[in-house]
Amino acid sequence: MGKPLKVGIIGCGAIIAQYLTNFRRLDQIQLVAVADLDPARAQAVADDYDGVRALSVEELLAADDVDLVLNLTIPAAHADVALKAIAAGKSVYGEKPLAATTQEARQVLDAARQAGVAVGCAPDTVLGTGVQTARKAIDDGLIGAPISASATMVTPGHERWHPNPDFYYQPGGGPLLDMGPYYVSALVTLLGPVVSVVGAASHTRTERTIGSGPREGEKVPVNIDSHVTGVLVHASGALSTLFMSFDAVKSKSPNIEIHGERGSLVVPDPNHFDGDVQLFSLGAEEWETLPVSAGYVDAGRGFGIADLASTPKGKEPRAGGALAYHALEVMESVLKAAHSGMTIGIQSTVERPESVALTVLAEQADALQSK
Ligand SMILES: NC(=O)c1ccc[n+]([C@@H]2O[C@H](COP(=O)([O-])OP(=O)(O)OC[C@H]3O[C@@H](n4cnc5c(N)ncnc54)[C@H](O)[C@@H]3O)[C@@H](O)[C@H]2O)c1
Repeated sequence: MGKPLKVGIIGCGAIIAQYLTNFRRLDQIQLVAVADLDPARAQAVADDYDGVRALSVEELLAADDVDLVLNLTIPAAHADVALKAIAAGKSVYGEKPLAATTQEARQVLDAARQAGVAVGCAPDTVLGTGVQTARKAIDDGLIGAPISASATMVTPGHERWHPNPDFYYQPGGGPLLDMGPYYVSALVTLLGPVVSVVGAASHTRTERTIGSGPREGEKVPVNIDSHVTGVLVHASGALSTLFMSFDAVKSKSPNIEIHGERGSLVVPDPNHFDGDVQLFSLGAEEWETLPVSAGYVDAGRGFGIADLASTPKGKEPRAGGALAYHALEVMESVLKAAHSGMTIGIQSTVERPESVALTVLAEQADALQSK
């Protein structure tokens, strides 16, 4: 293995803990610095992680030892932070969505191309054993030609658990832009790019009440569609039905189901890295659970950055900007379709990222903890 990729994180909120856990397991990554608009949050991370210094955002962007900026800020700040990092000559990897709009996301990709730096973006969950085993099943022909898929994400709303849920209810948030990246990235990984969409959407409330933390009981305004449905037409001809809601209690539907001419496949939650893939073959009596056959084993958030670190310069990383841009355009277009009542053509396209062979990239978290 070559030298580790030196990473600086901007944004030290709720999600950073998962990255920190996994960076401790990944030899490909060396965390060197952290920054946040709130310096105390960055300091708390630095105090807990050997060799990491807390900096201001400007200092982190100017730091010579940061090769890649991991952008864990809120969606409204994703493009601004990414553009500043690229202008400072750094590669970037951001939490989803790539930006709040495709217009902003395009600026990020164009700036990165001009600067010759890499762009990666969550979700990297699709590189785990769940979605990758399902992909191998499809690629091996176990269900024949895929005809259709359904993707279902139902929750009563993140304000019930997140202490600062404001961003989920502002443009760039909502069930589609917040959770859709997992589902759309998985659908494109499994079935290929999307060429057009239709959609319908609604919202039930103009404000939401924070359910936990110091702001419990405070209301946050709702400026997004909180229930979104759509149909994605893939270039292959397969049709995926999307159902993304912050307005429903629970669902018994599988997160993703794929139907082919010779079988149906249940794909595990694309917000997780693993989970059982189940197959019901034409003529079979029952569902069978497929053995784990592909993907990063025991993976977690941050494995997409390790994957990027091993991607040759100039080659698109698997959890890359092109896939994230396509997913964002698909989601934005579903919302446009919902508001216009029109079918919207998708301008971008993307190659399905290379599949991931069954790979152990890092020690298991529990083995590491017992050391
Ligand atoms: N919370 C989760 O469970 C979760 C899961 C997966 C992905 N994500 C994604 O991760 C991102 C962050 O989510 P979160 O839950 O950690 O949010 P959060 O609000 O808890 O944290 C965001 C942090 O970024 C900082 N910040 C905001 N703008 C900044 C700027 N311009 N410069 C520097 N710092 C800035 C804030 O001060 C805050 O500390 C979002 O894109 C979200 O979609 C969150």
